[in-house]
Amino acid sequence: QAFHRAMEEEKQPTGAPHFVGKKEELIEAKRSFRTLEGRDILIIYHQSFFYAMDSYCYHAGGILQNGDIEEIAGKLCIICPNHKYKISLAKGEGMYKARDPQEKPPVHRWYSKGVKQRIHTVTETSGDVYVKLSEDTCWIESDFFQGEKGKVERDKA
Ligand code: FES
Repeated sequence: QAFHRAMEEEKQPTGAPHFVGKKEELIEAKRSFRTLEGRDILIIYHQSFFYAMDSYCYHAGGILQNGDIEEIAGKLCIICPNHKYKISLAKGEGMYKARDPQEKPPVHRWYSKGVKQRIHTVTETSGDVYVKLSEDTCWIESDFFQGEKGKVERDKA
């Protein structure tokens, strides 16, 4: 409930694409931090693709910027440096490993918890890169760390 109220108090995104930098610049940086409409965003360049997501981990607000990237169950995931939660770059799914006790013998497999981290859209036109904030109105757990109550202060984190 508190989460939903926090979300309602937040401004809705304008839907406008924001220029975030030149393609070469962002490729060289690999990870870039931008604040767009008051929201802190991480832009990632990895294996020829750009991705953009909320900058703070949905679990406890960890700074994802320096997380390693690994392929997990066929999905590229960033690994939060704090407690090693795995988040898919394309959809923001939380990935976890578990075993089905019904299965004999039980085998550990990767499963998705569903979308936990808000993902934004990256586009490129003539070497200029833009990010459009997600307009998905449903609550996504990483929203908490972008709102008044959970806002991460990067200098202290
Ligand atoms: Fe990211 Fe806990 S804060 S895994």
